[in-house]
Amino acid sequence: MKLIKPTKKYEQSWKAALAEFQAEERKGFWNWEKEPDNLDDYMKQTRNNEKGKGLSESFVPSTTYWLIDNDEFVGHTNIRHKLNEHYRKIGGHIGYYIRPSARKKGYGTKILKLALKKARRLGLKKVLITCDESNIASQKVIEKNKGKFQDKIPSDPEPKLRYWIEL
Ligand SMILES: CC(C)(COP(=O)(O)OP(=O)(O)OC[C@H]1O[C@@H](n2cnc3c(N)ncnc32)[C@H](O)[C@@H]1OP(=O)(O)O)[C@@H](O)C(=O)NCCC(=O)NCCS
Repeated sequence: MKLIKPTKKYEQSWKAALAEFQAEERKGFWNWEKEPDNLDDYMKQTRNNEKGKGLSESFVPSTTYWLIDNDEFVGHTNIRHKLNEHYRKIGGHIGYYIRPSARKKGYGTKILKLALKKARRLGLKKVLITCDESNIASQKVIEKNKGKFQDKIPSDPEPKLRYWIEL
C-alpha cells in the first residue's frame, strides 16, 4: 500500500471511484472549485495547488496523494501546507476520502497514517484535523492516529470537532 501523486497509471480505478463518490453525492472535497471530470485537468490542478499557483483567495497550497492498493485507486488525501482562517475552523491540514466500496477495511486509518508521514516531511510539526460531529468513522480514524481532541465549534449544517496530532 502506498501514497503516490495522481497519475494516468490508475486512471481506470480513479474514474470508477469518482462515479462512486458522485453516487453518494459527496462534493467539495477535491481542493478545487469544481468537481473533476477528467484526469488531465485534475492532475494539472493538483500540480498548481502544490506550487500555490493561481489559487483563489480561500485556498492554500496543498499536496494531493492517492492511496493505491493491489494496483487500484482506493482513496485520496489533501495535505495543506498551512492553515488560513477557514481551514482553522473547517478542514484543517489534512482531508482524506476512501472510495465507498473500500470503506470499513482499515484504509481510512492507513491513509491518515501515511499522510502524517508526508506532512512531517513537509516540515509541519503538528496538524489540525477536523470532522463533523456525526462522522464516527472519521473520529475513530483520527483517534487511532493519536489525535487529541481540542474542541467542538459551531458550524453549518452541524458542529465540527477539532483535533491536533503531534508529528
Ligand atoms: C471517514 C473514512 C475515511 C473512514 O474510512 P474507512 O476506510 O471506513 O476507515 P477504517 O476502515 O480505517 O475504519 C476506522 C474505524 O471506523 C469505523 N467505521 C467505519 N465506517 C463507519 C461508519 N459508517 N459508522 C461507524 N463506524 C465506522 C470502523 O469500524 C473502524 O473502527 P474500529 O477500528 O473500532 O473497528 C470514510 O468513511 C470516508 O471516506 N468518508 C467520507 C469522507 C470523510 O468523511 N472524510 C473524513 C473527513 S476529512
